Amino acid sequence: MSNPDKLIIFDTTLRDGEQSPGASMTRDEKLRIARALEKLRVDVIEAGFPIASRGDFEAVQAVARSIKESTICGLARATEKDIDRAGEALREANTGRIHTFIATSPIHMEQKLRMSPDEVVEQAVWAVKRARNLIDDVEFSAEDAGRSDIDFLCRIFERAIDAGATTINVPDTVGYNLPQQFGETIRTLIERIPNSDKAVFSVHCHNDLGLASANSLAAVLNGARQVECTINGLGERAGNASLEEVVMAVRTRRDLFSCDSNLDTTQIVNCSRIVSGITGFPVQPNKAIVGANAFAHEAGIHQDGVLKSRETYEIMRAEDVGWSQNRMVLGKHSGRNAFRARLVELGVDYGSEEELNEGFRSFKELADKKHEIFDDDLLALVNDAGFSAENERVNLVSLRVCSETGEVPNANVVLTLDGVEKSGSSTGGGPVDAAFKAIESIVRTESVLELYSVNAITSGTDAQGEVTVRVRKAGRIVNGQGADTDIVIASAKAYVNAFNKLLQSEKRAHPQLGDV
Ligand code: KIV
Ligand code: ZN
Repeated sequence: MSNPDKLIIFDTTLRDGEQSPGASMTRDEKLRIARALEKLRVDVIEAGFPIASRGDFEAVQAVARSIKESTICGLARATEKDIDRAGEALREANTGRIHTFIATSPIHMEQKLRMSPDEVVEQAVWAVKRARNLIDDVEFSAEDAGRSDIDFLCRIFERAIDAGATTINVPDTVGYNLPQQFGETIRTLIERIPNSDKAVFSVHCHNDLGLASANSLAAVLNGARQVECTINGLGERAGNASLEEVVMAVRTRRDLFSCDSNLDTTQIVNCSRIVSGITGFPVQPNKAIVGANAFAHEAGIHQDGVLKSRETYEIMRAEDVGWSQNRMVLGKHSGRNAFRARLVELGVDYGSEEELNEGFRSFKELADKKHEIFDDDLLALVNDAGFSAENERVNLVSLRVCSETGEVPNANVVLTLDGVEKSGSSTGGGPVDAAFKAIESIVRTESVLELYSVNAITSGTDAQGEVTVRVRKAGRIVNGQGADTDIVIASAKAYVNAFNKLLQSEKRAHPQLGDV
């Protein structure tokens, strides 16, 4: 059933990635990421968990409506309401997939599900059949397969394939496995399950021991033909296998792998930037493939070698993952068409002329303050606009901050709160502290600031600062982002953005907690 030469890339940034604390995304943010993933030519996009909330359902539905080149997938526990809701969310998809799962490890079956192994098998078979009644493409996952009994896995997978599952996914849910062992598990499953040729074998590895990509690659070497992964390795706890690492390892070591993905790898850096900008999870500089230093050579001996022959120290070309494309510069004199064209290349499509005009106005304002506008500036601008568009309840009107040697910094802020203009002021340990306290004096959320970070988006003293804040209230964590050439203003924007997310609080179910 599976094409032995093709490695299917199943991206779960919008589902498992979104399960990272603080990484929750709005429908429009999911759509932007989905468009970038489609340009990357990802085969399957897991867009969410439709039963989790109305917002999740609408996000999967919107992605299914507008993405036509990739298969759109919705997650569902092995229950009637989950599966039917996923089917409904995918109704308008060109090609849709329902991904249903149930836990199979002794600890999960006994402690979480309180079901016997026989009951779990029957529930799985029932769920796959129910999903197959709605859609032809059905994936079945054995949650915590990495700690499950191999005989039991063989039994449940054989029955799931008989019931109509077209993809069998083997998750290392808690990131417990080691590469050689995980590879052997995959080989054993494929060899021992009599109908294994009727399904694609897939893996979904978590990174608790830093082995998610290595385990996924070991699985591919042993017959898996789908890898579930996320951009920048985003995901529950330590994250999932990182798409860019898996895809580039397979492509770079074609001497060892007998398959390859269809991805347009030149889109990788764009996707990484978009996901990092939207979630506010920065990419560490030494991150493989997408880190700022991934292709930078500092040591003199390395620089000398690379200048003489690039292959002395480089195993991949920076431009093959999209680094060189990130150099395009726009400026004060660039026109609306150049602005729009560059954004389209970056995977950003302004829905209406009105939005485009608004974006172009902000671009011109930025170009007045900053000489050269790089791709990262454009993406920050779009993120900023996205934030304000959704920030219906609180808006930053103005901010005045005084900071002087020997004086206590103070801030005066004007916000609109539910359309009503309000002002507040405060002193603080520094200008950002004063600004945050002035904002809190108006919105009074009594939340806790857990993280504050500033990144210069590009180089130079006129660079925009991109600020990320993480705020917690009553167990709920949200991230806020803001960008501006003035970092105190960027900080205030980020703080206001976080409050808007807090105020939009929506109850969501978590796929891996709860009944089945
Ligand atoms: O980690 C996991 O087991 C999952 C499943 C829902 C596939 O995310
Ligand atoms: Zn997972």
